[in-house]
Amino acid sequence: MMNKVMVAAGVAAFCLSCNATAQGQGAGQTVDPLAEMKEVALAMPPKMIKVLNDEIEKSGFANAISVCREKAPAMAKATSEAKNMQIRRVSLRNRSPKAVPDAWERQVLEDFDKRVEAGETPGSLEVSKEFVEEGKRVVRYMKAVPTQAECLACHGTDKHMNDEAHAKIKELYPDDKATGYRPGQIRGAITMKKSI
Ligand code: HEC
Repeated sequence: MMNKVMVAAGVAAFCLSCNATAQGQGAGQTVDPLAEMKEVALAMPPKMIKVLNDEIEKSGFANAISVCREKAPAMAKATSEAKNMQIRRVSLRNRSPKAVPDAWERQVLEDFDKRVEAGETPGSLEVSKEFVEEGKRVVRYMKAVPTQAECLACHGTDKHMNDEAHAKIKELYPDDKATGYRPGQIRGAITMKKSI
């Protein structure tokens, strides 16, 4: 049971921002945008825990895939709209074809990998930077998503992958690059953008 809860928590933490993006119009902002993004990065995962937990409990990992593919993006989209920001996930070895990093994200992810190799803790890695896009100021924020033991059923080596989930993943993602990870490696990042 504990394992299932941990798995659900882990999956929730990283599946709920499945590449949904949304951008609304800025109403008078009272909160520091960067603080708000950090808060969202921490607050969203628990919302998915119950859904995922129920699904894993009821019908196993293969069905948890659908939570990650469908329900999580819907929730991320709703949060993006409510908070007037863009949220997505990226990886240097992406599973979703939508999770390809742009130039800045790629640079950050490569830097995260180097910092982990140099001994930093993956979960602590975050970076933010201001940009001007089409004449408007935005702040971008990225937070590393570490690989944990609980991720290996769907992101590990053949030895660790759950057979049923693996078969389904291969079918759904013919160009999947997101297997073969070991705990402690960086799986990807949550990436956010907000107007300032
Ligand atoms: C039940 C299987 C499953 C488990 C367990 C799982 N994932 Fe995933 N993961 C997926 C699927 C499926 C996708 C693609 C979702 C999509 O289409 O957006 C994905 C995508 C991702 C992405 C987005 C980047 C990409 O490659 O598309 C990240 C980051 C990620 N997972 C991290 C994790 C982490 C970290 C864990 C463990 C805490 C984990 N996942 C556990 C199935 C899983």
